[in-house]
Amino acid sequence: MDPERARQYPFLPSFGAGLPIARTEGSFLVLPDGRRILDAAGGAVVASIGHGRTEVADVAAQTLAEVSFVVPPFATEQRVRLVERLRASWLPPGITRCVFASGGSEAIDLAVRVVRQHFVSKGEPARWKVIGRELSYHGTTLSGLDVGGHPKRRKGMEPWLHELPKAPACYPLRCGMCRAAGTCTLACADALEDAIQRAGPETVAAFIFEPVGGSTAGALTSPLGYFARIGEICRRHGILCIADEVMSGFGRTGARFAVDHEGFVPDLLVSGKGLASGYAPIVGVFAREEVVAPIAAHGDEVMFYTYAAHPAACAVADKVLEIMEREALVGRAAAMGEALRERLVAALGAHPHVAEIRGKGLLQAVELVKGRTTLEPFALADRITATVVAAGLANGVFFYPAGAGAAQDAIVLGPPFTVSEDELDLLVTGLVKSIDAAVAHAAARRS
Ligand SMILES: Cc1ncc(COP(=O)(O)O)c(C=O)c1O
Repeated sequence: MDPERARQYPFLPSFGAGLPIARTEGSFLVLPDGRRILDAAGGAVVASIGHGRTEVADVAAQTLAEVSFVVPPFATEQRVRLVERLRASWLPPGITRCVFASGGSEAIDLAVRVVRQHFVSKGEPARWKVIGRELSYHGTTLSGLDVGGHPKRRKGMEPWLHELPKAPACYPLRCGMCRAAGTCTLACADALEDAIQRAGPETVAAFIFEPVGGSTAGALTSPLGYFARIGEICRRHGILCIADEVMSGFGRTGARFAVDHEGFVPDLLVSGKGLASGYAPIVGVFAREEVVAPIAAHGDEVMFYTYAAHPAACAVADKVLEIMEREALVGRAAAMGEALRERLVAALGAHPHVAEIRGKGLLQAVELVKGRTTLEPFALADRITATVVAAGLANGVFFYPAGAGAAQDAIVLGPPFTVSEDELDLLVTGLVKSIDAAVAHAAARRS
């Protein structure tokens, strides 16, 4: 592609805007001039089975020839097969109801509507509030921004948003709650109780959280026991619990879902970047029978999105899950996640500008600070994260930018589960080089 044509494409400037991509193959993005960039971000932590699988493309082509479009409630073979596979092999026990959207933001909006309809149908219309957490992201629809805790993405939209109390994020590096105890007491989970009390328990419909965070603060994990504790609080107040696993689900953390690491079953599970591995736009909202039953009993409908459960997207998702099963890729995500972590710790564990390396499976992040011991962030004007991403692209590796609030600068790593050990070496070498280049760039700017 002519670079000038590529430059005309972006709506606005942003990271990588107008970077021309000719092809994607395995763990790599290939530019028109043949240059190869390692996709250390798996797109936006999407690509799980790796790029360029022709058997997936073949299924899409075949389906489009058979069924182009029918409204989402109609049962096509592809839709039925996907739901059957999800129920049989993927969803946590007790989660049986599946409805789809074309992206994470839409799916979260759908989950919020299902929750609201659940309570209205049950005769509890006072319950409408959805409590989220600080340092979280649930998409860019107005409801997603409302329940999310990403200050930069909420900015300017406040007139449409509710100022509901938020529970704290699980962020041990800067946790002010357990410091006196010297160990994690799950005070962040107990703080959900305070948020519910402040909101008025009889008005609260749901609590939404990311079991492993994504690109807000960068792969924040939940301490052992957190899921059970928040689950107990939700149950005690008759509040539904929504696990947002748009990024962490479908094997990314080394289990089918991040909640599976502790056998926790939420009331609603939203997941999907990895459902079709980026080959098609599809994200699921999965719910327990008890969530849906009152809506059905009341004779209500949940309005669908026109393109939800597109037959080609369902066929692609079914094929992607089949490949994941055939190649045991969830286990591979766990193993390669360990291999990545070991390399990161060896290369960056003592780096003067690395505050923490954290995450689970192949969803890892590196938080960057000006002072490793003080945890002082870089000046905003240093644009550290953006500079690391730009240096990464120049060094042949694509890193995903993260950072919000106190965790201002972080780099997210989410390569395909098929990534090789050699590619991990390339990734880590490229990351060290790019961090050092960004720090040098910031120092030069200041001098
Ligand atoms: C946890 C979580 N929820 C929701 C979303 C929004 O998904 P989408 O970008 O597909 O709208 C994201 C996107 O990164 C996410 O990580």
